[in-house]
Amino acid sequence: MEVVIKKTYEDVSVASARVVAEVINNKPDAVLGLATGSTPLGLYKELIRLHHEEGLDFSHVSTFNLDEYVGLKPDNPQSYHYFMHENLFKHINIDPQNVHVPSGTTNNYPAFCEWYEDRIEERGGIDVQVLGIGSDGHIGFNEPGSSLGSRTRIKTLNKQTIEDNARFFDKPEDVPVYSITMGVGTILEAERIVLLANGANKARAVADAVEGPVSARCAASALQMHPETTLFLNEDAAGKLEMREYYDWIQEKKPGAPETA
Ligand code: GLP
Repeated sequence: MEVVIKKTYEDVSVASARVVAEVINNKPDAVLGLATGSTPLGLYKELIRLHHEEGLDFSHVSTFNLDEYVGLKPDNPQSYHYFMHENLFKHINIDPQNVHVPSGTTNNYPAFCEWYEDRIEERGGIDVQVLGIGSDGHIGFNEPGSSLGSRTRIKTLNKQTIEDNARFFDKPEDVPVYSITMGVGTILEAERIVLLANGANKARAVADAVEGPVSARCAASALQMHPETTLFLNEDAAGKLEMREYYDWIQEKKPGAPETA
């Protein structure tokens, strides 16, 4: 895992967007794995800027979102379909046919989950997966206890997550209890992973993910098994890392390091 600590949220957004843009520039028909939540908003803003000002072209790009709330229709403002449309898709030149967000309203979840996995495979797999992290260490909606080999499926939300996400709903009771999410196993198959974290409320989960044991207790710790994962953290989110000094040292020495590939 590469740990990159930036001063501000804006720096985290720009640096992570650069990784995504580089993937698209090297492979115009790249497959992106996308996340929701407040954390990737800055990254999406930067991708939109790159599209408008530097011609970043999404016309052949495909996207697969991590998750969706069960029961919310795509036109519900709290749905992840709606979030992605408002915060990214409507601002770029992506072909709607290449956009995939798990369905929260299918009448056959097992069949849909299988279809979603097959569709990712059909497109050649995910080139770069963007992740946030929940305060309980979840990635997507893979809550504590999720199998580290799990695939796309229904997941019951943790009370902590319901509380955390209640800010987006009128009342906490409106937060759905179930979600449909890519599994940890699905996420680990991405070629490259970038995880973003911002704020002190993520510091514990980040430290568990990076320096804790690999454990279903903190789903993000499974990323320790992935060979191409970069974490972009702001100062607050990095606040509980014990090996902070070494991570900074690595970044400082990076320009002189021998080529690895
Ligand atoms: C939700 C999403 C996650 C996201 C998390 C953190 O639960 N399912 O993919 O990482 O929220 O959200 P935020 O970035 O708003 O803290």
